[in-house]
Amino acid sequence: MCGIVGYAGSRPALQIVIDGLARLEYRGYDSAGVAIVADGEVRATRRAGKLARLRESLAAGTPSPGEVGIGHTRWATHGPPTDRNAHPHRDCTGAIAVVHNGIIENFATLRERLEKDGHILASDTDTEAVAHLLEDAMAGQQDLTEAMRTVCRRLDGAFTLVAVHAGQPDVVVGARRNSPLVVGRGTGENFLASDVAAFIEHTRDAIELGQDQVVELRRDGVRVIDFDGRPADVKEYHVDWDVSAAEKGGYDYFMLKEIAEQPQAVADTLLGRVGMDGRLTLDEMRLSDEELREVDKIIIVACGTAYHAGLIAKYAIEHWAQLPCEVELASEFRYRDPILTRTTLVIAISQSGETMDTLMAVRHAREQRARVLGICNVNGSSIPRECDGVLYTHAGPEIAVASTKAFLTQLVAVYLVALYIAQTRGTKWADEVFAVVQLLAGMPEKVEKVLETMEPVRALARSLASEKCVLFLGRHVGYPVALEGALKLKELAYMHAEGFAAGELKHGPIALIEENLPVVVVVPPRARDVLHDKIVSNIQEIRARGARTIVIAEAGDESVVAYADTLLRVPAVPTLLQPLVTTVPLQVFACELATAKGHDVDQPRNLAKSVTVE
Ligand code: M6R
Repeated sequence: MCGIVGYAGSRPALQIVIDGLARLEYRGYDSAGVAIVADGEVRATRRAGKLARLRESLAAGTPSPGEVGIGHTRWATHGPPTDRNAHPHRDCTGAIAVVHNGIIENFATLRERLEKDGHILASDTDTEAVAHLLEDAMAGQQDLTEAMRTVCRRLDGAFTLVAVHAGQPDVVVGARRNSPLVVGRGTGENFLASDVAAFIEHTRDAIELGQDQVVELRRDGVRVIDFDGRPADVKEYHVDWDVSAAEKGGYDYFMLKEIAEQPQAVADTLLGRVGMDGRLTLDEMRLSDEELREVDKIIIVACGTAYHAGLIAKYAIEHWAQLPCEVELASEFRYRDPILTRTTLVIAISQSGETMDTLMAVRHAREQRARVLGICNVNGSSIPRECDGVLYTHAGPEIAVASTKAFLTQLVAVYLVALYIAQTRGTKWADEVFAVVQLLAGMPEKVEKVLETMEPVRALARSLASEKCVLFLGRHVGYPVALEGALKLKELAYMHAEGFAAGELKHGPIALIEENLPVVVVVPPRARDVLHDKIVSNIQEIRARGARTIVIAEAGDESVVAYADTLLRVPAVPTLLQPLVTTVPLQVFACELATAKGHDVDQPRNLAKSVTVE
């Protein structure tokens, strides 16, 4: 949440900062602002609304020279999204500008103290207190890096802070605790950002900052210290994707591009994970076979779409690895008393690796001595860094707020983990594991086939654009798919959408069915005869009550034809793998319906891609 950019170099900072913000707008788009150091002062411009409004204001004013600058795109937490609350925030003298991602939990106390001391605070934000604290800290020593270190020690909560000072025109100072900040190393220029996407067009050489570190960025160097002032160890790495991955590549929306990239993302996530002998090799996971053999319970923690991947994973883990598996919303996990021991394996699933609820669940699990495995997409992000082991998905950058390709790759990754545990614990023979891996290897082609047949789905979506509500039903792994279909529609089309386990319908939700209500039903493969036949009965029950049935069923399943007002076909695959094909039409459906309603599908209202507050 909130995107931050910092630049120190020899080119005009303004354009570089604005371009960086454009790549981070997925993190929040309630307001945007920049501050450039030039001619002995800090010039800031900030506007409520999307980055385009800031660009308009900047175009109308005098261009700011200056080769050092910072910028911010906001997802509002404290105070409404107005000009006044937009970042950067200033101190009383106007010499300091600061941008922030996260929440400073003790800001009310700090603010009260500052006001008593005579500071005038002009916004409702928690961030502004930091600008004034830096002002006080600078009064004694005139060094922004030292001042930042001193101030950070007084802050509670989660924060990435980046600041500039008129008196130190060649320096940008950043600090992080529980929120992301990466350094980009260029030649004669250096960058700071919430995500490498902000500087990927300038450099692919990055530095991962650790917890509680302060970074001083200059044109010709980067210095990192901890909050106690000691030189800090940092990890340098090379980003393995380039700027084209972070661009729309001819699509109207990132979401459309990301949906289309799914076959490749699935293939990439499988790549290199089967040895010459046909056995799965997940060495990178960092958990030894011995540790995995000791596991007697698995708990999956995640949020949103990643949680739905977790719900599907439960079926695979219990079926293949024969271990009890619970799935918990990360935001709820640490507020009950989960029974965790050294032999519990907690799996945290997160695309961004920065979701605060999931990160806190990881910490809680580790404090209780459980082993924690992260399944993440963003290399070097906080969750994988704090887990005992990690399996990366290889979806590439996912920029649209609605998760699509990350979801499919999360499924592939959890399937691999389930199979690997089965292989290690001997609950499946090697040839059985290999047979499933072969089926997985065939999935990119099947997903491609689904994508080729999406025109009827788009037409259907357009025809339903004025509906108020859509329900989604499924059974077994089809149930989380129904939840995912409903989530996509809620977040993109702002429609009432609910996913139900089809068997639960008769226990209450069937009362919602009325004449012409669109109900999407995900039908399991015919091979699961009992499951399949039960859902066919459910379709008849809702149709008898007037529902307009939209049925997703495998090719060749004729039993549903008579009961489907609209029939959408997917390739026939085994039950556990079916979510990889049945989710895709639901993504396309939500995307098209939202577009028909005139919504910005990449940046739905009130949302942000990476949720770094609890
Ligand atoms: O980065 P994460 O996978 O941890 O994010 C979790 C959720 O915030 C995310 O899946 C969210 O629900 C998406 N907007 C859904 O499309």
